[in-house]
Amino acid sequence: MARTVFVNGEYLPETEAKISIFDRGFLFADGVYEVSAVVNGKLVDYPAHMERLARSLKELRMDWPCTRAELDAMHLEMIRRNALHEGIIYMQVTRGAADRAFNFPKPAPKSTLIAFTQTMALVSNPNAVTGVKVITTPDLRWARRDIKTVMLLAPVLGKQEAYDKGAHEAWMVEAGQVTEGTSSNAYIVRNGKVITRGLTNEILAGCTRRALFQLATEHGVEIIERSFTPAEAYEADEAFLTSASQFVMPIVEIDGHRIGGGQPGPVVRKLRELFLAEAGRLGGSPREVRADNLRLCGPPPGDRNSQCQSAAGTARWTVSSMV
Ligand SMILES: Cc1ncc(COP(=O)(O)O)c(C=O)c1O
Repeated sequence: MARTVFVNGEYLPETEAKISIFDRGFLFADGVYEVSAVVNGKLVDYPAHMERLARSLKELRMDWPCTRAELDAMHLEMIRRNALHEGIIYMQVTRGAADRAFNFPKPAPKSTLIAFTQTMALVSNPNAVTGVKVITTPDLRWARRDIKTVMLLAPVLGKQEAYDKGAHEAWMVEAGQVTEGTSSNAYIVRNGKVITRGLTNEILAGCTRRALFQLATEHGVEIIERSFTPAEAYEADEAFLTSASQFVMPIVEIDGHRIGGGQPGPVVRKLRELFLAEAGRLGGSPREVRADNLRLCGPPPGDRNSQCQSAAGTARWTVSSMV
């Protein structure tokens, strides 16, 4: 059955969706995106994704494509129309369609907003049982990796290199230090402590990373924010990655070096369990967005920087500063 996708205010069968060949997302990668997980038909940690979207738009001086309330309603409607039980919603905003010129078009065209769903096994992902392999590769990206843009060619090449080598993800390396995965944040564990790079313009501030910090604090797992080298990672007790679609994913091999005897270790297993318990809980989880609190969840239209609060005041994962 064809999916229902969203294009500029319309819900359409995927085969009928069209955007302009002049769209600046297409011509210049002049656009930003978010990927939110859906578990049991509910959005997971959605307010954090909307906060990051607000920041990405602001950093690129792009307009909101619609009000936050409309965006919230669109996400819920996409779940409903596609009967999405578990998977992701991808949404993308671009600066719109205009005659090709590098500078921002004037007057500003209406931004393009598209969204689609993908069904995926997030909770019972078999990779989480076995753990995955990663390779390292040079980080070829630009200097503003803190903005979630659709300019993803370096990550595409890195991920393909990983797949060509029988691995699942590539950890990118710059100045001898691991920055992050092509589509995930990177962690090692030494002596029970989690080590991950601090937030700067050199990496994306993962929503799952932030959730993990919250859970780790609550459950007494120490996280140290610092860079690490591939050599240190080869010697680590455990390693893992996080992303909205993989949650907390154990790594059992890096560049052919077995990590933790080739099995997911106790710290990563605990962190994944904690994350799943939060993400999968029905009704009342602060990380879910329910129809009844969506209306109160967004900043008022036009206010790009507001913090998100759920109706019950339980949204704990509000972003402070990402850089
Ligand atoms: C480069 C990069 N880092 C980290 C992440 C993880 O971010 P999140 O946890 O918000 O999915 C992603 C996700 O796509 C990414 O592309």
